[in-house]
Amino acid sequence: MIARRLLTRQLCRRQPPILCIASQACAAAIAARPTPFREVRQNSTFTPPFLQRLPDTVSTILEKSRKGELVEGAAVTVHGWVRSVRKQKKIAFAQIMDGSSDQMIQLVFLDPSIALDLKTGVSVRATGKLEVTPTRQDPYEISITDPIEILGDYASPTDLYPLQKKFMTQEYLRREHPALRFRTRVNANVMRLRSVAITALSAYFLQNGFFQTQPPLITSSDCEGAGEVFTVANSSSSSSAGEHFFGQKAYLTVSTQLHLESLMMGLTRVWTLTPAFRAEESMTSRHLSEFWMLEAEVAFTKDLESVMSIVEGMIRSAVTRMKSEGVLDQILSLKRMLEKQKATAKEGEDDEEMVTADEVSERWNTLVATEQPWKRITYEQAISVLQDAVAQGKVEFQHKVEYGESLKSEHEKWLARHYAQGPVFVTNYPANMKPFYMLPGPDGTVECFDLLVPDMGELVGGSLREHDYERLRGAIAASGMDPEPLEWYLELRKWGSVPHGGFGMGFERLICYLGGVYNIREAIAFPRWIDHCAC
Ligand code: 4AD
Repeated sequence: MIARRLLTRQLCRRQPPILCIASQACAAAIAARPTPFREVRQNSTFTPPFLQRLPDTVSTILEKSRKGELVEGAAVTVHGWVRSVRKQKKIAFAQIMDGSSDQMIQLVFLDPSIALDLKTGVSVRATGKLEVTPTRQDPYEISITDPIEILGDYASPTDLYPLQKKFMTQEYLRREHPALRFRTRVNANVMRLRSVAITALSAYFLQNGFFQTQPPLITSSDCEGAGEVFTVANSSSSSSAGEHFFGQKAYLTVSTQLHLESLMMGLTRVWTLTPAFRAEESMTSRHLSEFWMLEAEVAFTKDLESVMSIVEGMIRSAVTRMKSEGVLDQILSLKRMLEKQKATAKEGEDDEEMVTADEVSERWNTLVATEQPWKRITYEQAISVLQDAVAQGKVEFQHKVEYGESLKSEHEKWLARHYAQGPVFVTNYPANMKPFYMLPGPDGTVECFDLLVPDMGELVGGSLREHDYERLRGAIAASGMDPEPLEWYLELRKWGSVPHGGFGMGFERLICYLGGVYNIREAIAFPRWIDHCAC
């Protein structure tokens, strides 16, 4: 191969005409190779034939109208749920939403008798002429002259639609109507944010040579060693396998890190986004029993900074991409609508905590501000900063700040808001506060970090990993864990181990932060926490 390359170079040097032919041949050969993953084009305009068979969504109608493919007066058909109906003597209006975007399309009935059967919440199919009034907040209308089709009416005609316009708390929606809550603008918006965030995060990993992998969710090891695992048991009494279906104790994963390390030691750079399960009894606005965690592992690094740069790059890149796609604008316009609603609500009607539009805007801007990298401080420095702040009367904490104690949520939030005024990496915690797999650093600390952000506290946790067989075995023993279920993991350190590191980010915490979602229970479709798994 090398000889052939040298020959080609010599030929190219000596004989200009051959140079052209030779380099053209090289170029053709390169072009014929499969496209590297990072060059795969996003945003293809190709619409596969099976999609052409599906009806337009509100989003595709608006898109086609913006592109000039659907002009004023064109016949359009819209499907969706009626959000509100207004009937007057000579005209009637109905607002239609289908969740494909936060925008609504207004149906205008020039003959109000056609709209007689229309009620909030029914699903419809309506055909009419498109009218665009750019100055209106919802500029798209469809003028209807023929009766429209009601696809799904109320099962019991005398019942009242449960999602009335009056203010409903998120808790009420979750408790009483868990299946219907995605018909509200707020909850549908969070689900769309999850979707675009996954796309943006995936793009970052694709561009940086990471492979998306699928580690298991059922495991025999407790990755964090904290004992907060849910056991997987067979509930069928007739099964010959008995309780131990897998022939040994099995759990739902608390983190896929150990399996991801195994994948990394074959593929060098890997990432995954999976559910994680923790039997913590926390009832806070930051904890769930089932949540999604984005994890990544990289081989051949001894440098904690390199792992922190991946985290910083990932968040900056995903947020920048989403911002350029108008995601922040959509969140802000919804927030402003909610702020108006709150301002006009009667006392006691709307007392749910809310993150304002200005706060969300500040969060996004701080994340993408490029002047300097996010701050990094050690745990020891963080303790001093906090203790000084208390001593100077700048802040009072509920929990005492002491070296060797974990940082409480109030400490984390203060550090990010007041010390860093944005995200901050706190590194090198004492070894006895962290799991067995972290690489020891100086003075009894480990090479680890937590990324803290204002109002939220910890968003990401990561570290370099102990890659030496004997030392890892020793760390497992020192932490009091049974090494037997971890033998498979220890094997990685026996055969060609490499220095490496990685991290895990709570996906719902990111969604809360970016979407201005006050309680993590609203950042996931069907939240599970202690005593709550109703559907
Ligand atoms: O800091 P944690 O516990 O780290 C690990 O599990 C590592 N094994 C990850 C790794 O290095 N691959 O959890 C990582 C993140 C936290 O920073 C937090 O954002 C989120 O997961 N998290 C939770 N999110 C919601 N509910 C919970 N109960 C959570 N526990 C952790």
